[in-house]
Parts: sequence; structure tokens; C-alpha cells
Amino acid sequence: MSFRVQPAAPARPNRCQLFGPGSRPAIFEKMAKSDADVINLDLEDSVTPDDKPEARKNIIQAIGDVDWGSKYLSVRINGLDTPYWYRDVVNLLENAGPRIDQIMIPKVGSAADVYAVDALVTAAEAATGRTKPISLEVIIETAAGIAHVEEIAASSPRLQAMSLGAADFAASMGMQTTGIGGTQENYYMHHEGAKYWSDPWHWAQTAIVAACRTHGVLPVDGPFGDFSDDEGFRAQALRSATLGMVGKWAIHPKQVALANDVFTPSAEQVAEAREILEAMEQAKRDGAGAAVYKGRLVDIASIRQAEVIVRQSKMIGG
Ligand code: COA
Ligand code: MG
Repeated sequence: MSFRVQPAAPARPNRCQLFGPGSRPAIFEKMAKSDADVINLDLEDSVTPDDKPEARKNIIQAIGDVDWGSKYLSVRINGLDTPYWYRDVVNLLENAGPRIDQIMIPKVGSAADVYAVDALVTAAEAATGRTKPISLEVIIETAAGIAHVEEIAASSPRLQAMSLGAADFAASMGMQTTGIGGTQENYYMHHEGAKYWSDPWHWAQTAIVAACRTHGVLPVDGPFGDFSDDEGFRAQALRSATLGMVGKWAIHPKQVALANDVFTPSAEQVAEAREILEAMEQAKRDGAGAAVYKGRLVDIASIRQAEVIVRQSKMIGG
């Protein structure tokens, strides 16, 4: 291992990010009352160009008026390739008041994209006398984004989270898919007459997790479009959690409970992690670096694995 200690990611729950279009203010109260840890009010692709000015106004008003409780409150601005993004940032920072926590930047392709938003946010914060710094989150959803994922993860001390955006990612990569995340019919191994489905998102997810963990950023799985398919969502979320991601988006309220369930370590997982830590305590007292737990090897690395689960459980429990 490098002599540099791996930085910790922000210690706040990010099991589910619930999205809603800024042009649909009737659902903002419902979003606030949901069980999602993070709320993403959207100015980007769920809002038509004609509706952008109205959506900005709706969001600015709701940030002040709605009781968001302890939610982490984020607004997704438009991409840097559009004429909208600077107005999104300036209007939000000048008018939204202190309750906004975070700005989400879509389609980030390089560290310079984050630098540009950071510069604008920094100037606007200074001009308005804002005392609590706005944090940033980014979506990796282009070929450039995944090619430059590590420099993006290192781009700003404001950066707290990074999501994989499956649909735009697939489009940018030229993938032959129309589904938003999950199993893809044509991505399979064939063996002795049977098909074995594989995971086309695996590489991008793992690259994001590695970049995030290197730089102390929360890795998050993005949307799952088919909100009628609970089992498909659950399978995708379980794969993401196994790879080290901390949460997943909900694009419909029914997905919130599914995400919270997967990204909250279960009582059994926590109990097993604690037993492993106890087994290793006993091994230490016996002067051993390894022990046997339920017929399998545990050693000092097992302590670090078990601590991930115990730490996550404590943090979520408050
Ligand atoms: N957050 C909170 N509540 C929501 C919601 C959301 N994102 N979307 C719908 N609801 C509410 C509805 O108002 C309805 O409430 P009611 O029971 O009080 O009437 C209930 O949940 C059921 O909604 P339903 O009829 O199943 O869905 P819909 O047709 O109204 O909306 C979508 C479906 C997908 C259009 C909508 O969920 C949506 O806009 N999702 C977010 C899209 C988005 O932000 N995309 C950008 C990121 S990819
Ligand atoms: Mg997108």
C-alpha cells in the first residue's frame, strides 16, 4: 500500500437519491416526506428547454419553503455543453438561500469541467456571503467521463459524490441498448446450449469505485429505468453494493425502499462482522494473526472488511 492513507468519504448516508423534475413542483413535498437520504431536484434532462426558467423559479422557491428535514438537498444543473448551466448556478446561489447543500453536474468529461463550476460557485458564494460551502456531485455518463474518471474524482475539495448515469453512458459509448441500467438481453455468455447473462456496467462501476475510494468520494449507482421491475432493481443494487457503491438513484418513489433495504447493512451482516472482529480479538490474545471462523480463514484483512460493514451500519443508524 502507498504510504498515503486512503481518505475517508463523507460520513453521511447516501443510500438513495430521489429525483424529481423541477418543472413538477406538485411532487416536491412528497419528495421531502420520502425516506430518501438525498433529494435531487432536476433542471436537466427531465425538464424541456422551454420549461427551464420556470423550473429554476420552482426549485428556488421550494428550497426555501418546503421543510426538507435532514435530507441532503441537491440540484442537478444543466451540462456545460448547454446555454443553461451558468444561469442555473448563478440563480441558485443568488436566490435559493442557505438550505441548498449540493449541486450536481451532469456529463462531466474532465477535471476542468468541475473546475469551471467550482470557480463560478466560489465567486457567487463570496459575493453573497454564504458561510456553508456548497458541495458538488458529478455524473459519469460519457466516454470522456469514464476515460478521465480519476482526475475527475480528484478535481475539487467540494466533490462529495460520483454517480454512473447508465443511459447517457450507453449512448456516448455507442452501446446497442435502449434500457436504462440493469440486465441487457444481448450481453451473455453461451455455454453448452445455455445463456449466462453478464453485467455490461461492471467495468464502469468498478472504475468509478476505484477513483472514488482513492480520493474520498462517495460512489453511487445511477438510475434503473424500469420501475415496474423490483427484482431487476434489487439485483442491480445488490451488485453495486457488492462492488463498493454506497447507494442508488430512485426515479420513482417506489424505488426508495428497495435502495434503502439493499444499502443498509442487514442485522445478520452486522452480527457476522462483529463476530469476525471478536474472533480476531481472540486470535490477537492468542498471539495469532489468523483464525478460523465458521470453518473459513479470517485474518487481519478480515478486520478491515468487517469494519466497513460496522462503520456503515453505525453511520446510517446516526
Ligand atoms: N418523487 C416523489 N413522488 C413522486 C415522484 C417522484 N419523483 N414521481 C411520482 N410521484 C408521486 C405521484 O405524484 C403519485 O402521488 P399520489 O399517489 O399522491 O398521486 C405517486 O408518486 C405515484 O406516481 P405514478 O403515477 O406511479 O407516477 P407518475 O406517472 O406520476 O410519474 C415519472 C412517473 C417516472 C414520470 C416520475 O416518477 C418522474 O418524473 N420521475 C423522476 C424523473 C427524473 O427526475 N428524471 C431525471 C433523473 S434520471
Ligand atoms: Mg443523463
